[in-house]
Amino acid sequence: MPIPLTILPTADDAAGAATDASPAFCQPAPPPGEPLLEVRDLTVAAGRRTILRGVNLRVAPNQVFGLIGPSGAGKSTLLKCLNRLAELTPGLTVAGDVLLRGRSVYAADLNPDDLRARVGILFQQPVVFPTTIYKNVVFGVRHLGAVPRRDWPEAAERALREAALWDEVKDRLREPAARLSVGQQQRLCLARTLATEPDVILMDEPTSALDPRSTAAVEELIVRLKARHAVVLVTHNIPQARRVADWLACLCVTDGVGEVSETACCDQLLDRPQCQAVVEYLKHGAA
Ligand SMILES: Nc1ncnc2c1ncn2[C@@H]1O[C@H](COP(=O)(O)OP(=O)(O)O)[C@@H](O)[C@H]1O
Ligand SMILES: [Mg+2]
Repeated sequence: MPIPLTILPTADDAAGAATDASPAFCQPAPPPGEPLLEVRDLTVAAGRRTILRGVNLRVAPNQVFGLIGPSGAGKSTLLKCLNRLAELTPGLTVAGDVLLRGRSVYAADLNPDDLRARVGILFQQPVVFPTTIYKNVVFGVRHLGAVPRRDWPEAAERALREAALWDEVKDRLREPAARLSVGQQQRLCLARTLATEPDVILMDEPTSALDPRSTAAVEELIVRLKARHAVVLVTHNIPQARRVADWLACLCVTDGVGEVSETACCDQLLDRPQCQAVVEYLKHGAA
């Protein structure tokens, strides 16, 4: 199924557009394989203002799917629709659908907590709870109640190892998480997400609060996470997108509303963008 795109023709295309109603160059093939996560015609409004319109995306298993675009285009809002965090924000209304393994995440019988265990999220600033490192890691596992208490230490170790934090904290598990550096706290938040064995990990500018060394550590992790998860990564950092993303979607604002302007494999979108709004963003708006 082709991905519907908002097409903003370039000046060079303008003449041709009148005669060619379906510019095939702007209709790249969907990412290979069956989608793990699919966004269908998603529209989000805050009160009476539409902030995101007609978003269609397909995220494949074992893929890092990058979301780029100017501030205010709706990237964070889109992420929050993928695991239904948006419904915790009063005034936001969501139309369209999001499918995880072919099943709507908005199905009435789906428990949002179970969904958020399968589609975890990492924010710009690490959000550690005011308790120990250990209790932070097992927070989700404990809340969901699916893993017996005797297995929590094993789940914690596995998650901390996967988040490349085990060696740094294995002798300090009972210490307050707040004593960790910001970079370690971000990996702790990742471990907390990984402990519930998610299918998809959403990351909203996860390195923007980190120094270059911690950023490099998180980028390395993102690439490694692909072996077992899909990652949807919002980033303003184009070199970072190039280093870690397989596929990209660029959200831009048209008439005050965020839309997917273009989606393509990473190199194609960054090196040969087809839509004028993306060209402009990469030229002037990107970090
Ligand atoms: N809860 C909300 N109420 C009103 N407007 C919102 C709300 N959340 C986001 N917005 C608006 O939606 C637009 C997209 O925001 P956001 O998703 O944060 O963009 P991005 O992450 O791309 O910078 C912005 O104009 C923002 O002000
Ligand atoms: Mg944002």
